[in-house]
Amino acid sequence: MTIKKETSKKAAAFSQPIDDNRQKSPSSNNWFAFREDLSDSERDRLSLLPDYVRVFSSKQDSLNAWLSHAQDAFFQGNLTQAAKDFRSLAGELKILEATASSEGTYDTRNSLNDLTGKEWLKHTKSWVIVDGKPSDIDIDIENHPASYPPELCKFFIEFFTKHDDWVFDPFMGIGSTFVASYELKRNCWGIELNPKYAQYAESRIPIKTSNYKIFTADARDSYKIWKESNLPGVKFIITSPPYWNMLAESRGGVKSIQKQRIEEGFDEKYSDDPRDIGNIDQVETYLEEMKKIFLELKKIMVPGGYIMIILQNIRPKDGIMQPIAWRLALALKKDFNLRQEFIWCQDQKFMGIWGYPKTFVSNVHHHYCLVFQKDE
Ligand SMILES: C[S@@+](CC[C@H](N)C(=O)[O-])C[C@H]1O[C@@H](n2cnc3c(N)ncnc32)[C@H](O)[C@@H]1O
Repeated sequence: MTIKKETSKKAAAFSQPIDDNRQKSPSSNNWFAFREDLSDSERDRLSLLPDYVRVFSSKQDSLNAWLSHAQDAFFQGNLTQAAKDFRSLAGELKILEATASSEGTYDTRNSLNDLTGKEWLKHTKSWVIVDGKPSDIDIDIENHPASYPPELCKFFIEFFTKHDDWVFDPFMGIGSTFVASYELKRNCWGIELNPKYAQYAESRIPIKTSNYKIFTADARDSYKIWKESNLPGVKFIITSPPYWNMLAESRGGVKSIQKQRIEEGFDEKYSDDPRDIGNIDQVETYLEEMKKIFLELKKIMVPGGYIMIILQNIRPKDGIMQPIAWRLALALKKDFNLRQEFIWCQDQKFMGIWGYPKTFVSNVHHHYCLVFQKDE
């Protein structure tokens, strides 16, 4: 039996008097209009770039559009949608904050990255919320079951490398690491087992040079390929390997995004290749293989270089959680310096009512970004 609960928040939205302003057409909304008459001292106080008006104006339309959507949803009583739209608006503002402000001064002793002290600080909060933008997704990208947003990757590459450093991704997928490195003017190479994804990843950047290269191969051969291709030492490895055999797990009778994707004809898993890490049945074998791959990678890294492995703990059908992220962290701790973790949160993901109405099953919308360092 279900008992319908009145949601007080929704009732509150309707109980507000609707004034003239609220009934305005959303398209007439131009709330985000920027002042051009700020004095030099006001600009300095706000740490704004001299050409901040140009930067702000380029974002003005999308900020106003998000605000209109959010208001629309709110006035229709759709608080879930309104919350999503306001969060997207906040996301746009955050990007604007990063691009429109001149942040602090650069310390020439900085051997890790090209950030000023203030910018550095912003990269050190231990959690980050990033959702893929619709503009990141075209049909080929949708066909890959689990890519991460280039924005996320950029955030980390910016912190762990300088211009012209080398970045490597042994599980390149459709190339989020590749795109992020290219946009940040870092060099990048990577490996991807599925030729379709590798080809697509390569097509995502407009140039073909030896500084951007993807090999269709097995990550287990990373060292061999690096040696034979005479590639320079890698400063930062960032990667998201298959989360064990998670894609093969069906989620009971509930309609998940994964099921919906299959119905729409998208790839269900990465491949049928027996070398595919996502096709390993036993969790112990998966962890052993992963450990072997990452230990090999130590040989291609420059001293002091960092590795970031993005992973989730898994709850298989039997309901017993397999903490693969924690276990891999402990397994690699003996050979690398385990530094810390970031938690990457997704705030706009589909919510499944998995265990309802009897069992606790959470919507896992966070990922561990484990950070290891090779000795100096
Ligand atoms: C989670 S996805 C990576 C997605 C990627 N970060 C992106 O944003 O596009 C994992 C990838 O590892 C690939 N893969 C699985 N086993 C592999 C292996 N042994 N060697 C290289 N790639 C492998 C899969 O084909 C899949 O594309």
